[in-house]
Amino acid sequence: MDDEGMERYLEAGRIASRILTKGAGEIRAGASYLGAVERIEEMVKADGAGLAFPLNVSINEDAAHDTASAKDDRVFSRGDLVKLDLGVHLDGYIADTATTIDLGDHHLLVEASRRGLDQAISMVRPGVSIGELGTAIHHEIEARGFKPVANLTGHGLDRYMIHTPPNIPNVRVQGGAVLEEGMVFAIEPFASTGCGRVTEKHRTEIYQQLAIHPVRLPSARHILEEIRPRKGMPFSKRWLSGNKIDLALAALIRAQVVRGYPVLSDVPGSLVSQAEHTLIVTSDGCIVTTA
Ligand code: CO
Repeated sequence: MDDEGMERYLEAGRIASRILTKGAGEIRAGASYLGAVERIEEMVKADGAGLAFPLNVSINEDAAHDTASAKDDRVFSRGDLVKLDLGVHLDGYIADTATTIDLGDHHLLVEASRRGLDQAISMVRPGVSIGELGTAIHHEIEARGFKPVANLTGHGLDRYMIHTPPNIPNVRVQGGAVLEEGMVFAIEPFASTGCGRVTEKHRTEIYQQLAIHPVRLPSARHILEEIRPRKGMPFSKRWLSGNKIDLALAALIRAQVVRGYPVLSDVPGSLVSQAEHTLIVTSDGCIVTTA
């Protein structure tokens, strides 16, 4: 990585960290999803940065990939466990960070994912395997009586790319990829009171362009025009203008030009917490860009 890339990663991390902390203050019982999401996303633009993906706001058993819809009328309730997952980029250099806001009495569950993250970060240096990180995360979560979510992982980051190898497991596994100096990745443990696996719900608000491919439907062409500046990074249905948006997205998905990211949930009635930081591996440890 050149110095400029490093500087951008660090600055994106500082912005993301500051906004996540400030944004958490928007999550209160009685506050609207849509208002909170719009205000937090606006903070990113006001700082001269871009969103690497729509702000994820996922509550209770929903672990990831929910965000406000354009006409969302939901409000946060007392007792909710709210995950905020924020991705900020500067010229494609991404900082991905998440926190859990507890509107109830779920202190230990919040602590479980947070301690898993802290423990894994403390172990990062060249030569350590991703299996060792997953094992440490699993241990911290299990020791507090919860389950790590096995089919959600941390992930490598690259310019304009949110998910690159290696995946960082949240569960005990043997071996796997070995960390090297200069790697950039996000670690994101999820702790659950449910079964420790997520499945897809029907609700889908977040999408991503996969391929450049001509389409004929005018409303679909309009969407491709609008999302072109995303350079392949995910976008929210809420960000799109025009009519027949659902029809157009369905056509783009059929043509395999776009994919959806349905909300991912553990079993109904369960609760999931999340903590996440982005880091860069150095010769003897790591720099946490979003600390
Ligand atoms: Co992430």
